[in-house]
Amino acid sequence: MSQKGLYVPDTPEPLQIESDVAAEALTPTELRLRAVIAAARFHGVDLDMSAYRGPAAEPYPSPASLVTWLRDQGLSARSMRLAWRNLFRFKEAAPVVLLLKDGTAGLVVGADLGRDIVWLKSPTARDAEPPVAVDRLRLEQAWGGEVVLVKRPYGQGEGEAPFTLGWIAGRVLEEKKFLTQIGYASVVLSALAILPALMVMAVIDRVLEYNSLPTFYLLVALLGVMMFFEAVLGWARRELILVMSARLDVRLNLHIFGRLLALPLDYFERSQAGETISRLREVFRVREFFTGKLLYTFLDGITLLIMLPFLFYMEPTLAWVSLAVAGLISLIIMIFLRPVGRLVALSIQAEHKKGAVMSETVYGIRTVKSLALEPQQKVTWDERVADAGRWRMAAGRLSNWPQTLIDPLQTFMSRGVVLFGAYLALQNDTSIDRGGIIAFMILSGRVAAPLVGFARLLEDFHEIRTSVGQIATVLNNPTETRAQTDGMRPQFEGQVTFEDLTFTYPLGQRPALNKVSFSIPPGTMLGLVGRSGSGKSTITRLLQGINREYSGAIRIDGAELREINLSHLRRSFGVVLQDNFLFRGTIRDNITAGRAGLTLEDAVRAARLAGAEEFIERMPQGYDTWIEEGSANISGGQRQRLAIARALITNPRIMILDEATSALDPESEALVNANLTRIGKGRTMVIVSHRLSSLVNCDLIMVLDRGAVVDIAPHDVLLDRCAVYRTLWNQQNRHIDPVRAAAALAQGE
Ligand SMILES: Nc1ncnc2c1ncn2[C@@H]1O[C@H](COP(=O)(O)OP(=O)(O)O)[C@@H](O)[C@H]1O
Ligand SMILES: [Mg+2]
Repeated sequence: MSQKGLYVPDTPEPLQIESDVAAEALTPTELRLRAVIAAARFHGVDLDMSAYRGPAAEPYPSPASLVTWLRDQGLSARSMRLAWRNLFRFKEAAPVVLLLKDGTAGLVVGADLGRDIVWLKSPTARDAEPPVAVDRLRLEQAWGGEVVLVKRPYGQGEGEAPFTLGWIAGRVLEEKKFLTQIGYASVVLSALAILPALMVMAVIDRVLEYNSLPTFYLLVALLGVMMFFEAVLGWARRELILVMSARLDVRLNLHIFGRLLALPLDYFERSQAGETISRLREVFRVREFFTGKLLYTFLDGITLLIMLPFLFYMEPTLAWVSLAVAGLISLIIMIFLRPVGRLVALSIQAEHKKGAVMSETVYGIRTVKSLALEPQQKVTWDERVADAGRWRMAAGRLSNWPQTLIDPLQTFMSRGVVLFGAYLALQNDTSIDRGGIIAFMILSGRVAAPLVGFARLLEDFHEIRTSVGQIATVLNNPTETRAQTDGMRPQFEGQVTFEDLTFTYPLGQRPALNKVSFSIPPGTMLGLVGRSGSGKSTITRLLQGINREYSGAIRIDGAELREINLSHLRRSFGVVLQDNFLFRGTIRDNITAGRAGLTLEDAVRAARLAGAEEFIERMPQGYDTWIEEGSANISGGQRQRLAIARALITNPRIMILDEATSALDPESEALVNANLTRIGKGRTMVIVSHRLSSLVNCDLIMVLDRGAVVDIAPHDVLLDRCAVYRTLWNQQNRHIDPVRAAAALAQGE
């Protein structure tokens, strides 16, 4: 075996793992990404480097950013610091990504414990290239211990696991470090909590009884120390809980948003936006429960465990009495639990319905105002407010009862115990003295709190289960994550083929597309026409992979659409719809849409191709012009041209325009249409329009009727042989072409 780099030179050469010449040209970012991509490929997951979006402030991806990215892609990943020794633990597993000090990366593909070397591969090395043996001295010059471990999740990744109480509890328990520290603080605090009672006992029995001043001073000093410790520990415990709940909050929020974005468009079309949002807001309740009541009750439980034995030691009879009363309190709460929980759930539901009306009104305020629907909305709102109020009242009233029953029992525990103790003392039935009784009273008041807390916890548990259920109905829908991480990423030429395609919407009565077959070569400009509801938009949706439950096949350059990676597919398309959403920001931002690595030149090029340059340059601030929400400061035609520029910026091989010019005035429409031929050069275009005149120049026009293809041919041919097309054409152009119209009339149309 002669592997280079095996010897240990006196002055070690700097580590050079970029065996490839090409590596010189790559940036540290690219090298790091290549390394994790190689590790992911080991698990059969193909990642796309261009999909990486790290924080702009990072010169090269930090371990945390890499891990976030990998997790977003459905892998399970972890970054950590490893010592040289630990590299040998991974020899059978997947490659370990080493993050080197200079911002680049390497892959450990094996290790030899006997010779004390690891096998290192450059992220740019080809598969067949042998790894390089590196010893500890050389590696540690370049490597500070940072690694990223990549695993294929068993069954489901963290991002894919269903959102349940168990899942959240798992995330809480992952904060082991915090939990144990909080636990320690609580144990000490509980122990300290017993001392005041003991001191009172000592004051009464020793100081007052025997007038002992030294004992008194000692007690004062003790009290001072205790106060100090209790304050410090209390502060530490609150601080720990605070940090832990902030961390949990961040994790839950990131997870929820990630899941939300992974839901297919389908879901959003089926559900009301307002309801989705108000359901997801429930997460704050869940987080508060886990880091508030649940945690504090368990901590109180610790106090109880420490205190109970002590009470029994002081006076068993009194301890039993206290325990019995505390048990009675718990019992009362348990009895009321179910009915109160039911009402609480109903009142939460009513709150959601109320919230949905509010957000619907705000989202649809244009329609509300222009149709003068204010009175109706008010009536609906009134009803929902009344509903919510009624259920809240009902829940409050019912839970008032257990409270009323419990109050006297709690009073007895904190004060009645004294009387009972005094009675026992009078009967000479007990060894406890005056100080002991007072001390017992102080402590027994604290026994009730944890028990009542546990019972209350069950009550809150109902509420939280409802909240989690609300969130789960949104998040636990099937996501697109698999389709976005798996699959091929071919370079598209632009050939599109539909084979015997039949598709019915989930709630549809009849197929929206019925046995549709056609094929267009790359670079074709295809027009889609047909009556409203004939399936034009459905064809464009299927092409984008929005709906995937069809029968038959859709092929792009021969590859079945469902085998193609979904993110890659969508990135390869440029899509312009009738109503395009412009983000708040500058025109330039809107054209680049936050895609990394795009310059102003790219934006200008896209704008020029889209015919938008002309009006952008006339604006006072040009590409830096700010676009308001709802884009009030630009016209419809300008907005569509911006949308086209945004679709063009990635230079897609396939463009889809679904009624992109339909809402425009004739002049703007003519402007946009004039650019289409230019835009279509070297691209496959699928253009839906109900105005046939704008499709005359298309290479092919496909006529759809009730989900079926009637004909597909150029304009002139269709005019001759397709009756449906001729009818549509004549309806729209009678006034323009009297000769043709007359001819059509003569044919008996
Ligand atoms: N999201 C949807 N859910 C259920 N049915 C739908 C949905 N979208 C469209 N449809 C139905 O599918 C048929 C074709 O619709 P579409 O492709 O939008 O027609 P076009 O774009 O030609 O006007 C219509 O009958 C329509 O009612
Ligand atoms: Mg449509």
